[in-house]
Amino acid sequence: MSINVKEQAARAALSYVEDGMTLGLGSGSTAEIFIELLGLAVDDGLKVRGVPTSKRSEEVALEAGVPLIDVEQVDHIHLTVDGADEVGSEFALIKGGGGCLLREKIIANASDLMICIVDESKLVEVLGAYPLPVEVDQFGFTITAKKIFDALVAAGSEDPQIVQRMKKNGREPFVTDGGNYIFDCACSALPRVRQIASRLSAIPGVVEHGLFIDLARIVIVGTEEGADILEL
Ligand code: 5RP
Repeated sequence: MSINVKEQAARAALSYVEDGMTLGLGSGSTAEIFIELLGLAVDDGLKVRGVPTSKRSEEVALEAGVPLIDVEQVDHIHLTVDGADEVGSEFALIKGGGGCLLREKIIANASDLMICIVDESKLVEVLGAYPLPVEVDQFGFTITAKKIFDALVAAGSEDPQIVQRMKKNGREPFVTDGGNYIFDCACSALPRVRQIASRLSAIPGVVEHGLFIDLARIVIVGTEEGADILEL
């Protein structure tokens, strides 16, 4: 997605922000553009507080001058704006490409409204071309990987490929902000998302999975010309 298209989506999301809101700040390159635009609006007098969903988003928000509130001090989150790796039917999402799915889901689930900002390439009929990230506890992660494989097969995925995410150097495991590992599960298609989600959630050792179901109610699709606003 070109920067311009991401910015179109982020800019359209900004129009949902009102004075006095507490905002969940998503993670990933599109969410970062939203945070930067939010910082400019704050410079112009907008009064909001942000709850970042990752250390990286926190850094971007601090740099942009967005006032932050500690997540433990928050009693109400009005709106969360976040990106996604795929958007399927009924706005079921795959998230976690940046490894922030746990915190993103905690904050989205606590928000009055989640707006998802994407470009057209993220819209799919059936989720699953993008490997599903699953965050797991480090203890027993090999056992957990086998259980994830079994759960995906039981839910109808043929021959899922489960790969532990590594750091860019390719030698050390990628570790999330919360200290967990991630398995990227390539299934080619995830037709039964609700069944897969509940099977994955039932595995001890799975901290969270990247299927976001019934969370986003508005999806903003950035285009070269502007932004399409989709509502459920
Ligand atoms: C991070 C995420 C991101 O929202 C997702 O990966 C999309 O990122 P981008 O806007 O860079 O395409 O879920 O965990």
